[in-house]
Amino acid sequence: MSRLLVRDLAQLATPAVPGAVLRGVALGEVEVVENAFVLVRDGLIEAVGPMTSLPSIDGDVHEVDGDGLSAIPGLVDCHTHPAFAGDRAHEFALRAAGATYEELLAAGGGILSTTRATRAAGSDALHEIVERHREAMIAHGTTTFEGKSGYGLDHDTELAQLEAVRGAGGVPTWLGAHAVPPEHPDADAYVDWLIADVLPDAARIALAADVFVERGTFDVEQARRYLRACGAAGLTLRLHGDQLSEIGAVPLAVELGARSIDHLEATSPTGVEALAASDVVGVLLPVAALYLGRPMPPARALVDAGAAIALATDFNPGSAYCESLPVVCTLACTQLGLTPAEALSACTVNAAYVLGLPDRGRLAPGLRADVVLVGAPDWRHLAYHLAGDVVHTVLREGRVVHSRA
Ligand code: NIG
Ligand code: FE
Repeated sequence: MSRLLVRDLAQLATPAVPGAVLRGVALGEVEVVENAFVLVRDGLIEAVGPMTSLPSIDGDVHEVDGDGLSAIPGLVDCHTHPAFAGDRAHEFALRAAGATYEELLAAGGGILSTTRATRAAGSDALHEIVERHREAMIAHGTTTFEGKSGYGLDHDTELAQLEAVRGAGGVPTWLGAHAVPPEHPDADAYVDWLIADVLPDAARIALAADVFVERGTFDVEQARRYLRACGAAGLTLRLHGDQLSEIGAVPLAVELGARSIDHLEATSPTGVEALAASDVVGVLLPVAALYLGRPMPPARALVDAGAAIALATDFNPGSAYCESLPVVCTLACTQLGLTPAEALSACTVNAAYVLGLPDRGRLAPGLRADVVLVGAPDWRHLAYHLAGDVVHTVLREGRVVHSRA
């Protein structure tokens, strides 16, 4: 038995309302305990509370001094694309000079340029790359990450990407339908091939499937066919939808009972109402909107209408080269109209729900001891300090995996 005590914390903050996924007013209800402790046993939280209620502890216990720090649940990044080779610094410069994301993709760049580099990399390199990005995520407080394929777009590289995510401890999502690679004549033929030749093997590794529903990639009918086949193979369904244009991704997500629809920068009030009346989670990715100079998603309207939302980085080399959920929380509070408490719930308990992981996302007895110690006596510095070095210490399953002390 191993025990760890984080003592004398200035604050502890955790989503307050019970429930697998928080909506409406409940999203913003965070319980704050002053002068607090977290007690861990065998990787799980044994107790949390004020120091005045700390139980007497027999036997060995490793102590961590929480003086001047505040504890929040380990952050959960439910939408990333970490298994890529190469970079897109050149395209970043072209966009800064006026080129658009859609023009670069249509000219064979964008996702397709990362696909060329990723196919050439080999699976050992992909493992190293995902592990490197995982370390960067941990340093920003992410203790659980989802990682998508979608830069292989051939059988072996798609599987190598999924293996690399799984090997690094991530939650793998198959994004075979990310773009149409040049060896297939069109999107319909490519979807046929994905379902027949890749899905049976991808479904052995991935937990979810995803598709980029957009003009120039996959339309609603192609996405429906792909997702129906993925659902029949046992995968949870997710969509990239309403990023650049609103072409029917929200109604499709609702029709298919998808777990999430991610992006929503182009979602209209009708889409907001449809999501609010459904169980589909809207995953908001404000870094991608900022990076591409697009409108921010209608986060405030979604929460006020009663929709479930989560926040994620969308970490990828093209539209969101940023591993930091604290930066996402700052954008949530300054650009999306959310409160720090709503942002915290959205990238902890609600993001864990998107990944089907009810064992994490709060600081409560019996849950995984995934804990971030924010280097300030008020936990809201998480969002308040724009791009600051806010993450002091990270515990994953009760072990210190990052510390700047
Ligand atoms: O979520 N929109 C589609 N996919 C990614 C971007 C991928 C890329 O540009 O490499 C996204 O933004
Ligand atoms: Fe994405």
